[in-house]
Amino acid sequence: MSALFSPFNLKSVTLRNRIAIPPMCQYSAVDGFTTDWHLAHYTALARGGAGLVIVEATGVAAEGRITPGCTGLWQDEQQAGMAAIAKAIKDAGSVPGIQLAHAGRKASANKPWEGDDHIAADDSRGWQTIAPSAIAFGHHLPKVPEAMTIADIKRVQAAYVAAAKRALAAGFEWLELHFAHGYLAQSFFSKHSNQRTDEYGGDLAGRSRFILETLAAVRAVWPEHLPLTARFGVIEFDGNDEQTLQESIELTRQMKALGLDMLNVSVGFTIAETTIPWGPAFLGPIAQQIKQQAELPVASSWGIDTPQLAENAVASGQMDLVMIGRAHLANPHWSYQAAQQLQKPEAAWVLPAPYAHWLARYKPNAS
Ligand SMILES: Cc1cc2nc3c(=O)[nH]c(=O)nc-3n(C[C@H](O)[C@H](O)[C@H](O)COP(=O)(O)O)c2cc1C
Repeated sequence: MSALFSPFNLKSVTLRNRIAIPPMCQYSAVDGFTTDWHLAHYTALARGGAGLVIVEATGVAAEGRITPGCTGLWQDEQQAGMAAIAKAIKDAGSVPGIQLAHAGRKASANKPWEGDDHIAADDSRGWQTIAPSAIAFGHHLPKVPEAMTIADIKRVQAAYVAAAKRALAAGFEWLELHFAHGYLAQSFFSKHSNQRTDEYGGDLAGRSRFILETLAAVRAVWPEHLPLTARFGVIEFDGNDEQTLQESIELTRQMKALGLDMLNVSVGFTIAETTIPWGPAFLGPIAQQIKQQAELPVASSWGIDTPQLAENAVASGQMDLVMIGRAHLANPHWSYQAAQQLQKPEAAWVLPAPYAHWLARYKPNAS
């Protein structure tokens, strides 16, 4: 019996297996609106057999997009494109999820294949960024953000709530709040980027306030029977890891008390100068620590790309869901091939019938 191919229940939602496709920006939107690319991309991924497909980081406000090509849900008009995507994912037997995001001081950047750096000051495609403090990320993202006023904070939190309502109306059944990767929420939590002296900075309670208030406000409008999750960077690999991990565990416990259903465990990416120990499934033990100490289901990713690594991550109890990203860009039918390699006799039926009927009988020539 494969752990990876066992179903997973969270609130009223059942995933057909433990394979999730994490949010991956496509940088192919126009003014925040999805395009044909998104519909084709997410349809193909969902048909590949994963239990959960999470649509990419979607801006709750125009200035919260990473690049001008990022998707948004800051206007009612942006809902229809997302509804078509949610339906396509669901029609393929997968659960449609979406990640809501605000990029903070990392916003207003060029697409990765056009430089990945901040858009130049004299380029009209760019915009003023905002953050807890007027401190630039540096490195390839040198733009100095404006320190947010209390009114800015309330506006962005209200934007998360409004976008969550639109995501629900669009048919998504799984909501992930992007509190990770050095974007706005993570930058409130980190001392590297938050040097505020008001109630949104300072001690752990102050640096957690933006995240906890935003979560509580979204939980109040996101139905209790549907999973509300967050992606959070629990560690920075900046030499202060023990303290950051302990603070992250405390924050996770508090998020759980406010109704968080699962944590997607990731890296902080708040500063450029880090020594991240990249390697196969390197976050697995850290995900397990969060799961055990915060007593909350967890998902995680980074470098889990073979069926055996994914199987081990679930079977060993490190994580409840395995997020498999780039391997799905390489092969949208990753789940099918994983089922074959893990010797599931009904492997072909991971795919929809128009493919499965033929592949169940198909014996490729040996190479
Ligand atoms: C093209 C691309 C876009 C990404 N966009 C997002 C995103 O929108 N939100 C997010 O939290 N992570 C994003 N990530 C990180 C992935 O979700 C994932 O954590 C990462 O690729 C590591 O998993 P992997 O080793 O299975 O690829 C992105 C990664 C890639 C490759």
